[in-house]
Amino acid sequence: MSLNLDALMEVIRLRRSMGLSRLSDRPVPRECIEVMLEAANWAPSHRDTEPWRFQVFMGDGRAVLAEHYAAAHLADHPDQDPESAHKRAWAAPVWIAIGLVPGFNEEGERAVPRDEEVMAVSGAVQNLHLAARAQGLAGMWHSKGLSVHPVVRERLEWNDPAELLGFFMLGWPEGEWLEGERGPWPEKVGWVTSP
Ligand SMILES: Cc1cc2nc3c(=O)[nH]c(=O)nc-3n(C[C@H](O)[C@H](O)[C@H](O)COP(=O)(O)O)c2cc1C
Repeated sequence: MSLNLDALMEVIRLRRSMGLSRLSDRPVPRECIEVMLEAANWAPSHRDTEPWRFQVFMGDGRAVLAEHYAAAHLADHPDQDPESAHKRAWAAPVWIAIGLVPGFNEEGERAVPRDEEVMAVSGAVQNLHLAARAQGLAGMWHSKGLSVHPVVRERLEWNDPAELLGFFMLGWPEGEWLEGERGPWPEKVGWVTSP
């Protein structure tokens, strides 16, 4: 059975990273997010460790995230008002924390090296992002500052050896979709077709 390659390529090409200033505050139905999470869960992982974890903050639940961000900000800047960190949680209708929980074998050792777990989570987030785009939803994987702060990680209970790999901010796009740009793929590829 052949599936719809044109539709797949269109979603892949039109997926864009869109940050907070490009997201409207219109709420996102939970069903849309559930499709994204199912898509994420279909990612491949070496030894089937399925290391991806997600924590969704939406609606009033963002108050909990605001407290996490404020606590992280205060840990770094005890003398500052954490208001800006608090506000960040309300700047997107949905935030999805991206976690990594490694798999272990029967001997209590990591089932695969850390890099491979990160690779698997990356595939899951790409699936999630594509499923967002296919529904007209925009977002971006953010992997700096508060998005990977140890205090936020602790509060999410992703303690070592689990990791916090960032947050995916999600919402309906405000205004136009961004144009994508890539160097030509043939310049990044070698072919070996004979001995
Ligand atoms: C693992 C990962 C982490 C990222 N972290 C950030 C980030 O912290 N801040 C940011 O502005 N963009 C971040 N991005 C988005 C990239 O900048 C974006 O994917 C890139 O510019 C290509 O744009 P496109 O996704 O629209 O094709 C991240 C992307 C990935 C895959």
